[in-house]
Amino acid sequence: HTLHPLIAALPKCEHHMHVEGSLSPELLLALAERNGVPLPVAEDASFASVEALYARYARFTSLDDFLHYYYIGMSVLQTAADFEALAMAYFEKAHAANVRHAEIFFDPQVHLARGVSLADVVRGLRAASRRATAELGGMTSLLIPCLLRHLPVDDSGKLVAQLREGYWADGDEAEQEETVVQALEEAFDGQEDTASLRGALAGLGLCSSERDLPPTLWRDVFREARRHSAAAAAPPSVNAVKATNARRGATRITAHAGEEGPAEYITLALDHLGAQRIDHGIAAATDPAVMARLAKEQIMLTVCPLSNVCLRAAKSIAAVPIRTFLDAGVPFSINSDDPAYFGGYIQDNYCAVQDAHNLAVDDWATIVRNAVRGSWCDDARKEVIL
Ligand code: HPA
Ligand code: ZN
Repeated sequence: HTLHPLIAALPKCEHHMHVEGSLSPELLLALAERNGVPLPVAEDASFASVEALYARYARFTSLDDFLHYYYIGMSVLQTAADFEALAMAYFEKAHAANVRHAEIFFDPQVHLARGVSLADVVRGLRAASRRATAELGGMTSLLIPCLLRHLPVDDSGKLVAQLREGYWADGDEAEQEETVVQALEEAFDGQEDTASLRGALAGLGLCSSERDLPPTLWRDVFREARRHSAAAAAPPSVNAVKATNARRGATRITAHAGEEGPAEYITLALDHLGAQRIDHGIAAATDPAVMARLAKEQIMLTVCPLSNVCLRAAKSIAAVPIRTFLDAGVPFSINSDDPAYFGGYIQDNYCAVQDAHNLAVDDWATIVRNAVRGSWCDDARKEVIL
């Protein structure tokens, strides 16, 4: 398409990429061997080779069908160095697609359950994030832990307690975010700060299976997460949440909703979890009241077109409601979700949208602007990106 060169050159922000979902079959099998992690080859021949894994990934039938492979796949990640290498490989691909700012999801509960410490995971990811700033044109990134809906709510509660204890910036006296200069110095020194991981993580997400798991089940857990920041004792009304989020150091909230689940789950995530943005959210297009609210409150959706087709949340890229969102003034960004599993990185998602929806240059300007606005970096950084 004639707009592909322009699309490649756009300054991009990615907000919806699970770092474990960037684990390619090649790296998966290599790490399984190197780390001595057994894969269920006897039960499932898909794990026998890179080709068999790719072939299986091409036949996903639902979110849960994918998640089964995704959780087995990530079991090969054992050390901080594994997480650093995984994230660095993603940042390099993102940089090649002109990503200037990336917000990376990861799934602590699964790693904790198999005996990998949260500190190791975060040290590895943070090292990659700092290297990306130093080596990849000042690219910025944030790390966002996600709670998992297929596990008991209690398990989420335990993780939130751990995050409050040592990983989120303090609400009242939020540590000054490290300047790019500091990050550069440390990266060049090769010196990893092992003393404190406070402030290493930004906010909280919610993902995994969605059907019959309404956001309301996690209301108390998210209240605890928001209570971490000073103003968050307020009830989760929209205005209180906005006021909370405006404060420095506040725990930012996002949640997967309206991927396989109904539009109602989007409303519940906003009202009961205090979500500031919604991951996927394509079901919004089925409900005019939800659309009107997203437009009025300028709540950004992080849309993942290739993922939606791969997991059959949408029949085709043309059926992903891109035009509907643009026409209604609902802000959204375009993202890769789990790029190693769904056949494409961010650039492939942008181009797939262009090929199916034939957008105008003005539409792309809107998409780029909204993606920058909806990012969780500070305003000074946003101005630099734009
Ligand atoms: N949806 C829900 N959970 C996930 C996804 C997704 O697309 N990717 C990784 N975990
Ligand atoms: Zn996702």
